[in-house]
Amino acid sequence: MLITSRPSWSISETEVTPEDVYINRREWLRAAGFAGLGLTSAASCLGGFASTVVAAIGGYPAMRNNAYVLDRDLTPEKEATTYTNFYEFGSSKNIWRDAQKLMTDPWMVTIDGLVETKMQLDASDLIAKIGGLEERLYRHRCVEAWAMAVPWTGVPLANLVKLASPRPEAKYLRMETFLDPKVALGQRQNWYPWPYVEGLTLMEATNELAFLATGIYGKPMPAQNGAPIRLVTPWKYGFKSVKSIRRFTFTDKRPVSFWEQLNGREYGFWANVNPQVPHPRWSQETERLLGSNKNMATQIFNGYSPQVAGLYDGMFPDDERKLFY
Ligand code: MTE
Repeated sequence: MLITSRPSWSISETEVTPEDVYINRREWLRAAGFAGLGLTSAASCLGGFASTVVAAIGGYPAMRNNAYVLDRDLTPEKEATTYTNFYEFGSSKNIWRDAQKLMTDPWMVTIDGLVETKMQLDASDLIAKIGGLEERLYRHRCVEAWAMAVPWTGVPLANLVKLASPRPEAKYLRMETFLDPKVALGQRQNWYPWPYVEGLTLMEATNELAFLATGIYGKPMPAQNGAPIRLVTPWKYGFKSVKSIRRFTFTDKRPVSFWEQLNGREYGFWANVNPQVPHPRWSQETERLLGSNKNMATQIFNGYSPQVAGLYDGMFPDDERKLFY
């Protein structure tokens, strides 16, 4: 479902200051006739930032869905692709080089649990079944209080749910990352509950904003940002947006996520952005934008209330804190 009326926070597309390099690159690609070609050829011509082309899903750049607009500048590509959280490769933000070891093509994905149609297929075949790719400009708010605004390429997660055809008992979608400590050295740290797991209610998973991203900045996803396929849920703190997904399981039990297992008091299931609810160790009222380092006020649901507030109507009548935890 597309947004038909403009949310209060939105500004027009022409007011968004584009990221020059990015736009120029897209224009150039179009002019050079690369639009719609396999990614590898297009991306290698670009010699992109900090990324190895590892997957073969697509046509890039995909058409932008103009229903999704920003209230801030796009984050420079270099910042968004070199300042990343991917604990499988270490707890620093500077792991993008190590993440290049992850081989993401081919990449088998399993869909199982309470579904009519269990399947195992390559990520590129999955996307072919549930695509056309589109581009969306989304804001991203990490629980650590940094934020970015990036163009993701991908497909609505609702398309995967439809393909899987969940049985009526299924209430949640559990998503699991790969497990390969030989490649991902962070996974040798056995105090973490690997593999990384996240979950959504099916209502959340079929909300129009929930997005399965296969690319960023008009190119295939670099390994460090979660190639070949990752979740993007822009109204929730970034840790919900699980990277490099191997398994989608439909279940009647609420999944316990990676961070919830580690510290459920600080990182709970809902994780909806809420500036009124401080993290136990810091305020969530403002956010620092990657690139400019500008501080901005954080908004409830990261500014996406028109699309998602209804999901939680009456759910937490006495305790708004649970919108976060
Ligand atoms: N997914 C996996 N598998 N491993 C991770 O460590 N980090 C999460 C999320 N998805 C993480 C993950 C966190 S804390 C954030 S903020 C976002 O990815 C960061 O996405 P980015 O690095 O593309 O900005």
